[in-house]
Amino acid sequence: MIKAGIVGGTGYTAGELIRILLFHPKVEIDFIKSTTKAGQLVSETHQDLTGTTALSFTDKLNPEVDVLFLCLGHGNSKKFLEENYFSDYTKIIDLSNDFRLKNNSHFIGKDFVYGFPELQKEVVKKANHIANPGCFATAIQLALLPLAADKKLQNDVHINAITGSTGAGGSLSATSHFSWRNNNISWYKPFTHQHLGEIGESIVSLQQNEANLIFIPQRGNFTRGIFVTAYTKFESSLEDAYELFESFYANAPFTHISKKEIHLKQVVNTNHCHIHLHKHNNLLLVTSAIDNLIKGASGQAIQNMNLMFGLDEKAGLQLKGNYF
Ligand SMILES: NC(=O)c1ccc[n+]([C@@H]2O[C@H](COP(=O)([O-])OP(=O)(O)OC[C@H]3O[C@@H](n4cnc5c(N)ncnc54)[C@H](OP(=O)(O)O)[C@@H]3O)[C@@H](O)[C@H]2O)c1
Repeated sequence: MIKAGIVGGTGYTAGELIRILLFHPKVEIDFIKSTTKAGQLVSETHQDLTGTTALSFTDKLNPEVDVLFLCLGHGNSKKFLEENYFSDYTKIIDLSNDFRLKNNSHFIGKDFVYGFPELQKEVVKKANHIANPGCFATAIQLALLPLAADKKLQNDVHINAITGSTGAGGSLSATSHFSWRNNNISWYKPFTHQHLGEIGESIVSLQQNEANLIFIPQRGNFTRGIFVTAYTKFESSLEDAYELFESFYANAPFTHISKKEIHLKQVVNTNHCHIHLHKHNNLLLVTSAIDNLIKGASGQAIQNMNLMFGLDEKAGLQLKGNYF
């Protein structure tokens, strides 16, 4: 069995990792570190796990684990790795944005690979350290990468994406408070969201030139999921666009192209991304939907782990959606 360690155990993404890994056929959880709740039962925090696991949070690390998941806020993964030693064979998967950009990918002797299987599965398979993509970045790249691979992102790309409240993690802020979020919608960081950096690097790697991405992120009145609409000029036919997407994702078991219009509940609580295409005059509208905590975070981290350990990419990730 693969021995896994999790750091940042009380957070939302760690909770999802624990839920999935407890049922993964090839993994056993070795430790779940928490700075705030060491000694307490995991099920006291992640209360849906009552009756499922007797594990407790710990403040002790096992430097010999096979894989380490870092579920810490931005900046804290670097600090954690500077302060804690792990064996050379421990594979590390970081869920923050500390190592995602090429400029940040080399750190204290470790090379981090951008862990986006739909972009570079073969590179992920050989990696020892993974920078797991951001949640908006995942949903948006899945909508745009087939076009970049065909050098089709040469005009303005307009992107709207709306996220559930879990996207902001477990700590409370004015805009994640129930009174703000309920019956409400708002935008934030228009044109400047930090995920534009990683999206831009992937696009350049495929089409060799930058795309002009005009991105308005929005906060939605729901807990889970990201729904993206993106459009740009596209002179070929809708059939050509479908062919492009279907061929780009031929080897992607979690990304599905749908001729029917899609909606968010199709993907909530799954590692799937659903994509729909629509043509209006010379514009192509691409709609994509993911679960921010699974395909946008912990599920993708496990997908990367499966690839790094030579397992079936889908192992442990056949999850039941929450359709109603
Ligand atoms: N939420 C999402 O949809 C999502 C999607 C993709 C990527 N991410 C990224 O994944 C990472 C974790 O996100 P999350 O949503 O799980 O956040 P979260 O719910 O806020 O959890 C983060 C955890 O980190 C630990 N922590 C907090 N402050 C710390 C500090 N100063 N030093 C060390 N540890 C600290 C805490 O765990 P303990 O008290 O147990 O130690 C906390 O529960 C973030 O970098 C986030 O951007 C999140």
